[in-house]
Amino acid sequence: MTLPLQIEFADMPAERIGRLPESESGVVAIFVPPDGKIDRVGRKLDSTVGRSLSRMLASTGWSKLKPGEALRMSFPAGMAAEALVVVKLDRKPSVSDARKAGSTLAQERGTLPLTVIGSGLPRIADVALGLLLRSYGFSVHKTGKTETPGRVTILVSDPDRVAGEVETRKTLAEGVLFARDLVNEPANVLTTGEFAARLSSLSDIGVEVEVLEEDDLHRLGMRTLLSVGQGAVAPSRVVVMRWAGGGSEPPCALVGKGVVFDSGGISIKPAAGMEEMTSDMAGAAVVAGAMKVLALRKARANVVGVVGLVENMPSGSAMRPGDIVRSMKGDTVEIINTDAEGRLVLADVLWYVQERFAPRAIVDLATLTGACVVALGQENAGVFSNDDALCGALLEAGQAEGEGAWRLPLGQGYDDLLKSRVADMKNVGGREGGAITAAQFLQRFIRSGQPWVHVDIAGVALLKTDTVLAPKGATGWGVMTLNRMIADRFESHEPLRDGSRPRPSGNAVPR
Ligand code: BES
Ligand code: MN
Ligand code: ZN
Repeated sequence: MTLPLQIEFADMPAERIGRLPESESGVVAIFVPPDGKIDRVGRKLDSTVGRSLSRMLASTGWSKLKPGEALRMSFPAGMAAEALVVVKLDRKPSVSDARKAGSTLAQERGTLPLTVIGSGLPRIADVALGLLLRSYGFSVHKTGKTETPGRVTILVSDPDRVAGEVETRKTLAEGVLFARDLVNEPANVLTTGEFAARLSSLSDIGVEVEVLEEDDLHRLGMRTLLSVGQGAVAPSRVVVMRWAGGGSEPPCALVGKGVVFDSGGISIKPAAGMEEMTSDMAGAAVVAGAMKVLALRKARANVVGVVGLVENMPSGSAMRPGDIVRSMKGDTVEIINTDAEGRLVLADVLWYVQERFAPRAIVDLATLTGACVVALGQENAGVFSNDDALCGALLEAGQAEGEGAWRLPLGQGYDDLLKSRVADMKNVGGREGGAITAAQFLQRFIRSGQPWVHVDIAGVALLKTDTVLAPKGATGWGVMTLNRMIADRFESHEPLRDGSRPRPSGNAVPR
């Protein structure tokens, strides 16, 4: 997608400040610290608007604002702008407050051009990221509503340095919004074939993309994956995306569930809310979004993203409850419920990734269980792992990026619930602990000693309400977390042979 905003930077010399009231139309925004003390620019504006700004800053309305929130002065006297937006923000704000301030500006701007007085604010690039992420909209299917990118000008004293910082945030936003677009797209548009085609376009930015067709999948023995797609008209696909920015070390693997529509199959879902199952490919979308960021910023790491793209439909050729299917690994699975299909897709993809790439770490993402939504709601993704260090890296990255994640346990007792009378395992373990037994099923396809994290994003991928950084709908949860985890733990920081440190790789966002 093209970014929803065109962000420009301009120098802010004294004479520009002087002309600001008459020259800038649209919305003008300034930042004021919680103590309400204004600087030279603020004083200039205050005198232009006949001291209305001072009165605003002395009001209870101002004192009640949280950091990142704003008050709006409409049609301020003496100014060409339609509004002066005053954002409460510390002189050295946290990353999350700065992003929230950007989100506030996105909402206050509407469709008007925005001029942000950003000089002196150390985290102005994160304000820009908040602006970009919150300005997203999905209107491709709204007739006659062509979105033109909004215009934002940020006035700073050192435009070149700030422009560089904002460039890395733009890269991040491109990955997040790529994922959101895929998740928001309906299943009649984003078929397995269309999905594969959109991922293939990542080759334009240096990602090596390989699309495995059904014949290939049969040859590889991916029978549990194929069994999910066998009732659908759309052919199943596995897409392998490789970014080779590291040396000769084995890659880090990202694996995604890409069920373009989950009707439940023969174990069909109730009608209410079934339309949300167009988002059951969010894991695959987030993996693709992360690959996009890594390639755009030329990450110094080897990363492979592998996604299983299938459609789960009921039909005369669909798999039935009671069917027994042999996985690529060789273990047999008794299908109890055809709606527990994500784990069948992931089982074969996880095995394939280990066989082909012997990765140093695997992170899989999937909208896997309703039980995870019951447990953690929309605030946190569920995290499961056999490796404390890798799991810690993911949780830390999530925390730093403001994407909630919470670890849940694994254990033999849960695994026992998957025992089958007739096969090596069942595909469901009962209602209780449903997110955990699903993770336990996946772990049966992870070799011992293989570091692995499973992230259940069923509750966080698609939201019914707006959040700080996303309007309602797809969130792109995980793109920023994966990018940071790779930057922090998997990129080479080794000194080069001549003793110098490698050039920083544009490592996303400093903390
Ligand atoms: N895609 C669903 C899980 C889901 C539910 C995602 C709600 C997003 C929101 C998954 O394939 C599914 O149907 N899981 C079943 C498993 C059950 C049959 C063991 C579930 O959670 O009900
Ligand atoms: Mn399902
Ligand atoms: Zn599903």
